Amino acid sequence: MTTAKELIELAKEVLDNAYCPYSQFPVSCALEMTDGRVIRGVNVENVSFGATNCAERSAIFTAISQGYKKGNIRAIAIVGKTTNYLAPCQICRQVMVEFCDPTTPIYLTKADGEVLTTTLGELSPMAFKELDRIEE
Ligand code: THU
Repeated sequence: MTTAKELIELAKEVLDNAYCPYSQFPVSCALEMTDGRVIRGVNVENVSFGATNCAERSAIFTAISQGYKKGNIRAIAIVGKTTNYLAPCQICRQVMVEFCDPTTPIYLTKADGEVLTTTLGELSPMAFKELDRIEE
């Protein structure tokens, strides 16, 4: 099992890989998988700003591309260079909801080294999770 501290360090290692010429706001994310491996991602921006991909989605999409399935993410660490805890955007929270349990620990960090451990359920209460439509 990777500790929160280790997962955060692994995220930090790739922070300089962020492609963020427009915001100058690098973010990295490390996922601890249920098989013990760690998958990392960074934000990748675009001159057409809406085409930007956040670090969290980069990491999750990489994991899925490598064959991991729903439920295979054990913990998530998010790292940047911020004064306050860097929390995932709403789009990334929705992507997390697709693949992770509400109990999944999420380690939020800030530049002074403090860590806030939260869960996906806390970050995304009453999330949209299923197409439970009424059959007509
Ligand atoms: N960003 C992330 O990668 N993750 C977050 O949790 C918040 C925002 C990125 C998107 C964009 O490249 C830059 O940070 C500024 O919003």
